[in-house]
Amino acid sequence: MRVLVIGGGGREHAIIRKIKENPNVTAIYALPGNGGMRSDAQCFPVGAKDLDGIEAFVKEHPVDFAVVAPDDPLVLGAVNRLEALGIPTFGPRAEAAIIEGSKVFSKNLMKKYGIPTAEYTVCSTPEEALEAVGRMNRYPVVLKADGLALGKGVLIASTKQEAEEAIRSLMVDRVFGQSGSRIVVEEFLTGPEVSVLSFTDGKTVVPMVSSMDHKRALDGDRGLNTGGMGTIAPNPYYTPEIAKQCMDTIFRPTVEAMNREGRTFKGCLYFGLMLTPDGPKVIEYNCRFGDPETQVVLPLLKTDLLTVMQATAAGKLDSCPVEWKEESACCVVMASEGYPGKYETGFEISVDPDCKAEIYCAGVKTDPERGVPVSGGGRVLGVVMTAPTLEQAVKDAYAEVKKVHFKNAFYRHDIGQRALLVKKES
Ligand code: AMP
Ligand code: GLY
Repeated sequence: MRVLVIGGGGREHAIIRKIKENPNVTAIYALPGNGGMRSDAQCFPVGAKDLDGIEAFVKEHPVDFAVVAPDDPLVLGAVNRLEALGIPTFGPRAEAAIIEGSKVFSKNLMKKYGIPTAEYTVCSTPEEALEAVGRMNRYPVVLKADGLALGKGVLIASTKQEAEEAIRSLMVDRVFGQSGSRIVVEEFLTGPEVSVLSFTDGKTVVPMVSSMDHKRALDGDRGLNTGGMGTIAPNPYYTPEIAKQCMDTIFRPTVEAMNREGRTFKGCLYFGLMLTPDGPKVIEYNCRFGDPETQVVLPLLKTDLLTVMQATAAGKLDSCPVEWKEESACCVVMASEGYPGKYETGFEISVDPDCKAEIYCAGVKTDPERGVPVSGGGRVLGVVMTAPTLEQAVKDAYAEVKKVHFKNAFYRHDIGQRALLVKKES
């Protein structure tokens, strides 16, 4: 089996490591991959959004299966293109990826099918948005760009003035380009957040182990929003009762709603949930594996990942039992000092020989002169440990972080602390 993986971050590295466990796999190609995953995959400089480049690549390097991991190529139709070439592919087609590609689509879908989510108004002009904020007259208020915005298109305004500024930056200054041509003005919800990734082929939905992201840059959930500074799994807020409720009111209804719309979703459907006092509600859908959720979820998967992905792509998920380890995992992201703002890169990365962690590389490049891995992005890598208990996994992950070195490295010191509090209370 020759497998193609589109993407180049820590999530893709975790997917590749897991696929590599399948004994039938003879080659893994990553487009573009990154300088930290060369021992696991052959990386080629084709951008994940370069659909023509991807097509040219597979014509030259035939593959038996493909996985499209990031949002952009999914929304652009990478799966449609690969399937048209006769390549079985894991991931939703463009018509289903719209569930992440357009917030207006996903909010209207939830409303139409009675799936619990925050109250909202869709606005096409700044005047409409100001009026919607005025009508809501409750702060904070949430403003969301309709389209993809590198995960940064959600602004939370605490005052009327902040809301006006947010509307201006989204709709007038167009900081996220066309993504801001429409916005969603949304009620602010409160409660613990849970990420649930699921495998679905449009008929069966199999939730994966739940997880918790830590989005802010600094300890104590302070600082700017980032792509995610660390994760733990499973998420202790997500009890078996809540899981059942989510299955009945959110997961199955969403998959069914997509079928009814003629947009059958096959791949990994990510439910970003908030456990509000009124029950679990959808904060966002993603049409893909989360990053860095994948880095803690996949190490807990007992079943062979490639087998599950093949069953999903073939519409045979019902005949593929998916099993999980009774363990916990913790991922601490090591980033470049200054991220998510300005930062310097190009510093050599070294790992002590006794490091026991799984290291998933994201912003890692190969130094062209010395051939060594160097930091090459904001989030550089994730250090992951699994253990019988969450407490142990967190402790172990932090012990192993000390064995990974590069200049200007920074990380949060409290990944998992909120989850451990729940454990103590219960
Ligand atoms: P993302 O879409 O990943 O950029 O998510 C942004 C974050 O904004 C979420 O993880 C939530 O913490 C927060 N958020 C989004 N929508 C709401 C909402 N309606 N109420 C409260 N917080 C929200
Ligand atoms: N960790 C959140 C996401 O992947 O969107």
